[in-house]
Amino acid sequence: MEILKVEHLCKTYGKGESLVEALKDVCFTVEQGEFAAVVGESGSGKSTLLNCIGALDMPTSGNIFMDGKDLFSMKEEQQTIFRRRNIGFVFQSFQLISELTVEQNIIFPILLDYQRPEPAAVEEILEVLGLTDRRHHLPSQLSGGQQQRVAIGRALITRPKLILADEPTGNLDSKNSQDVMDLLVKASRYYQQTIVMITHNNNLTASVDRVLRVSDGVLTDLGGKKNEKLS
Ligand SMILES: Nc1ncnc2c1ncn2[C@@H]1O[C@H](COP(=O)(O)OP(=O)(O)OP(=O)(O)O)[C@@H](O)[C@H]1O
Ligand SMILES: [Mg+2]
Repeated sequence: MEILKVEHLCKTYGKGESLVEALKDVCFTVEQGEFAAVVGESGSGKSTLLNCIGALDMPTSGNIFMDGKDLFSMKEEQQTIFRRRNIGFVFQSFQLISELTVEQNIIFPILLDYQRPEPAAVEEILEVLGLTDRRHHLPSQLSGGQQQRVAIGRALITRPKLILADEPTGNLDSKNSQDVMDLLVKASRYYQQTIVMITHNNNLTASVDRVLRVSDGVLTDLGGKKNEKLS
């Protein structure tokens, strides 16, 4: 089943001499449960693409359908709620709330939605992330890898259909990078969550289903080992 469809996406920044065509007629689809990596040189348009898919940035033209719904035809409030319920973000810089504990950071998207977290689901996520004994710690009391795992927990807690990750391992050493990668692979295989992850790390693209390359705003599907998932 197709979960994400990007049609003729263009994004232009600035005007006149400072005009930048960050995305040029980008088209692709991603299936439910698929793990796609986005690679490309610095400044090629990767973050712009991810931010448009997540409705954090507005495309200049083109359409994005998430689970059949046209993201940019929604009113702002509707879009915010849709995003919160269906899309999880993981950023390179973690973006945790420094005054909240590990557990509070993880359940934050649920509280924002005026819902109560399910205790069993919170326990499971803390366990999977290896953070059970750090649940009452503040982000400043954690290592970089642990902070990134909290950010992933926050992206997973609502069981979003789509997880968008912008260089989630960019600030981590190779061991922590692999741990984070293993968690994301698990999310896609066991929970059928779809992942689009930007990475500069070629070692990590070996574990994904598909590689999309962005070069000067143009996207090329490099294919991958779809349907050959190792278990
Ligand atoms: N807000 C903005 N205003 C003007 N130009 C921008 C803006 N954001 C991005 N750009 C330009 O758009 C292009 C694509 O930027 P983008 O951040 O998507 O690159 P990237 O592939 O994510 O790079 P990196 O690997 O360095 O993160 C770049 O040329 C950048 O300078
Ligand atoms: Mg970027």
